[in-house]
Amino acid sequence: MISKVRKAVFPAAGLGTRFLPATKAQAKEMLSLVDKPLIQYGVEEAMHSGVQNIIIVTGRGKSSIEDHFDVSFELEQLLESKGKQDLLSMVRGISDMIDIAYVRQKEALGLGHAVLRAREVVGHEPFAVVLSDDIIESEIPCIRQLLDVYDFYGASVLALMEVPRDQISAYGVVDAELMADKGFQNRLFRIRNMVEKPRAEDAPSNLAIIGRYILIPEIFEAIESIQPGSGGEIQLTDALKYMLRNRPIYGLKFEGKRFDAGDKLGYLKATVELALKRHDLGPPFAEYLRTVLACGARES
Ligand code: G1P
Repeated sequence: MISKVRKAVFPAAGLGTRFLPATKAQAKEMLSLVDKPLIQYGVEEAMHSGVQNIIIVTGRGKSSIEDHFDVSFELEQLLESKGKQDLLSMVRGISDMIDIAYVRQKEALGLGHAVLRAREVVGHEPFAVVLSDDIIESEIPCIRQLLDVYDFYGASVLALMEVPRDQISAYGVVDAELMADKGFQNRLFRIRNMVEKPRAEDAPSNLAIIGRYILIPEIFEAIESIQPGSGGEIQLTDALKYMLRNRPIYGLKFEGKRFDAGDKLGYLKATVELALKRHDLGPPFAEYLRTVLACGARES
C-alpha cells in the first residue's frame, strides 16, 4: 500500500543573497508579497493540498518566521479592544493554521543538507519539499498535482517547467522521457538523469526542476552518500540522481504560473500580478498602473 504524504519540509535557512540588501537583517521567506510573507503562500498551498504537518528548517536570523506563525497576544488584545474583528480573525487564522515544527540548520551547506536536517521529524515516510521562493498560482495547488502522481505510482515526483535556454543554468535540469500515461495529458515524465545548474550548452533539456518535490524517505541515505556539488553545496538534485540508480523518479509539468520571488524582477512581477487579482486592490491598482504607463509613454 502507498503511504500517505502527511508532512511538508520548508528549507528556510538560506542567506537570500539574491535579494540583498533587503535580506541583510530580514529572512527572505518573510518578504511580503502584497500583504503576506512568501512562506505563508507555500504553507497555504500545502494545507490546501491536504498536507497537515509543516516542518520549517530555519537558521540564524530567522526567528521572525516562528513569530509569524505563533500567537501574538499583544496584537490580538489590541485588535480586540479596538473592535477590529476582521483583522483579529485574520491574525488568529495564521497561528491556528496548521501544526508547525522547527528544526535548525546551523550552517547553510545546501538544499540537500537542509532536507537532511528534517530527517528525524519526518521519520520513515514520504514527504513534500516546498521552496518558498517559488510562488505557484494555479487552480489545483501544485503540491496536490504532484501528490496525484505520487498516489498512483508511489514514487518520488518533481515539479517541472520549460525554461528558456539562456536561463537554464539557474536550475536543476532533467533528462526525461515523456510517458504515455493519458491521465496526465502529456505532462508526465520518467526521469532518466539530472544535473544541477549545468552550463547552457551542457543542459540535457529545457525542463527545469521547480521548488516542489514529493520524496520517499530513501532520499536521506542518498543525501548522506553524495559529495558537495554545484557551488560546493550538498545538492538535492545530486541526491535524487544518486537515488535514480535503484528507484524510479517522475516529473510533472504542472499546470499553473510560477514566479521566482527570490529574484528581484520575479518578485516585482509576482507583486503586480497577485495585487491585480485581489478583489479589494485589483481595480484601483490597475487604474494606477495605467496612469503610470501612460505617463511613461508620454515622457519617452
Ligand atoms: C534550487 C534547486 C534547483 C531548482 C531551483 C528551483 O536552486 O537546487 O535544482 O531548479 O531551486 O527554484 P536555488 O534556486 O535554491 O539555487
